[in-house]
Amino acid sequence: GLLLRRMASQLPVGCSVIRGTLSFLPTKVQNYVADQAEVCQPDNIYICDGSKEENEALINQLIEDARTDPRDVARVESKTYICTKDKRESIPQAKDGVKGQLGNWMGESTIKKELDKRFPGCMKGRTMYVMAFSMGPVGSPVSKIGVQLTDSPYVVCSMRIMTRMGDHVMKVLGDGDFVKCLHSVGVPKPEPPSQYAWPCNPDKTLVTHFPHDREIKSFGSGYGGNSLLGKKCFALRIATTIGRDEGWLAEHMLIMALTNPKGEKKYIAAAFPSACGKTNLAMMKPTLPGWKVECVGDDIAWMWFDEEGQLRAINPESGFFGVAPGTSNKTNPVAMETCTTGTIFTNVAETSDGGFWWEGLPLPEEDVSITSWLGEKNWKPGSTKAAHPNSRFCTPIGNCPIMDKDWENPKGVPISAILFGGRRPQGVPLVYEAFNWQHGVFIASAMSSEATAAAEHKTKTVMRDPFAMRPFFGYNFGKYMEHWLSMSKNSKNKLPKIFHVNWFRLNENGKFLWPGFGENSRVLEWVTRRCNGEDIVDSSPIGFIPKSGTINTEGLGQLDMEQLFSIPKDYWLEECKSVRQYYDEQLGEDLPQAIRDELDALETRLQAA
Ligand code: GTP
Ligand code: MN
Ligand code: MN
Repeated sequence: GLLLRRMASQLPVGCSVIRGTLSFLPTKVQNYVADQAEVCQPDNIYICDGSKEENEALINQLIEDARTDPRDVARVESKTYICTKDKRESIPQAKDGVKGQLGNWMGESTIKKELDKRFPGCMKGRTMYVMAFSMGPVGSPVSKIGVQLTDSPYVVCSMRIMTRMGDHVMKVLGDGDFVKCLHSVGVPKPEPPSQYAWPCNPDKTLVTHFPHDREIKSFGSGYGGNSLLGKKCFALRIATTIGRDEGWLAEHMLIMALTNPKGEKKYIAAAFPSACGKTNLAMMKPTLPGWKVECVGDDIAWMWFDEEGQLRAINPESGFFGVAPGTSNKTNPVAMETCTTGTIFTNVAETSDGGFWWEGLPLPEEDVSITSWLGEKNWKPGSTKAAHPNSRFCTPIGNCPIMDKDWENPKGVPISAILFGGRRPQGVPLVYEAFNWQHGVFIASAMSSEATAAAEHKTKTVMRDPFAMRPFFGYNFGKYMEHWLSMSKNSKNKLPKIFHVNWFRLNENGKFLWPGFGENSRVLEWVTRRCNGEDIVDSSPIGFIPKSGTINTEGLGQLDMEQLFSIPKDYWLEECKSVRQYYDEQLGEDLPQAIRDELDALETRLQAA
């Protein structure tokens, strides 16, 4: 029979466009907007042009009162799903009776039911904002365009910082395909009374990804990682699957440039789990005299081997969404400078003179009082925190005084070394080098870290977080490792060296053994010397470690280098057991043989030591 379909740009009755013109948009976008408007039933539609005026109007609307709901302050990994026909495509086969930690899968019929319980009518009484945005420089061949629909003006203002958003992107998109991104806070009007001016629906929060349709649907949360869909959802989860199909890598990595006193420059990419130091390292002020750090990105890297076999990387974002607590003029002066204007702070404390405050900043003058993120007036240091541990600053990259001149170069920057690391209070040396690419992939697959406040997990338990990607895989982690391993099959590829770093080792009194932050430049110096092929390593069972005295510790005072670099045999044999159990329980048959071989070889080397 004949299928009657409403006209492309025809909106549901009663829904009007209050800014912009729907018929001026590319046809595919018109259809997407009209389809979703029919489901979500917003009162009106607002097509964002990305201009300053638009932003100011939205910000003024937000500033009135913005106390966030304490139930919506972090990513919710347990409510984040990848949706494919075949379960094994999305997540590895966990052992019977074991809960899989490498992502959640939902099948087609279930997901449809769950979405139907949420989206119909979810934007009643609200405005649906329409944004075209580019991940990567607008118009570059490695960039990808998305269109996000959202009922949250907070999300619009944040997306304008984190991505290139507006009219100019819509023009470049033309008839092209885009990643479809639908977001709703999940609170249609009239809304139930709430003490917070932060609509969200924590009981029904659901973040879903459809890699085959290149589509994201996120419901119930306004928190950045769940609502700024260009970031984790698109640039990591969807992009890993695009990268799998097209032969490149989407990674949870910072990108930085390092220049030595002779003026030689090298780029490094580094993957640490959430709240483990990427933003800090990417903006670091080196303490080593004559060294310079410039920033390309602080959270996500898209990387590919070019025609010459050189690994290159771009930062798909255009803003920083950084952890606030702990950021200060002492630890990260560049971030402090970056945050001075045009910044959206979420879940930080306020000062009575109109400023912001969080743990790690010096206390304000006595006549200035602090209101905690929960609204507690006259907050004083004690048992409660003034700022949420996962409070964030969202600030345009343009504010950062140390951006690398090539940070927006569509050709990317050449990567010389890849660092992996995490919070490892015990056993793991400050730095060691993988014997080769395959060994490096193994090291990354066995990464672990103390949990942080960036997601809903209880803090201080050590969890495996392979490649710092556990919450962000868009497809089966076993297949993801195969993809990494396959990069070495092309003999043309110049494989960068892989290192593991740990700034977080503790002594027996629970104090950090390494001063960290700007002093990490000493480790990076050593890394670049290794990239130049200097003979400054000794072999150890776990990898190459620095020859004694080859890390510059001048002026650091008392440091227990022996403890910092010790490799306790018992600890590592235990670690092997634990990794083996992890592989068996979490990956089963999906574990690549090459990785199992690496684990066997490590255990053999340790036993022989
Ligand atoms: P996401 O943005 O969530 O992906 O996290 P991130 O990796 O960017 O983490 P970030 O740089 O914001 O670091 C968060 C925490 O790590 C802060 O509490 C910092 O103080 C702490 N930190 C960062 N670098 C160091 C370091 O070298 N040593 C120590 N001891 N702590 C550090
Ligand atoms: Mn991150
Ligand atoms: Mn960060």
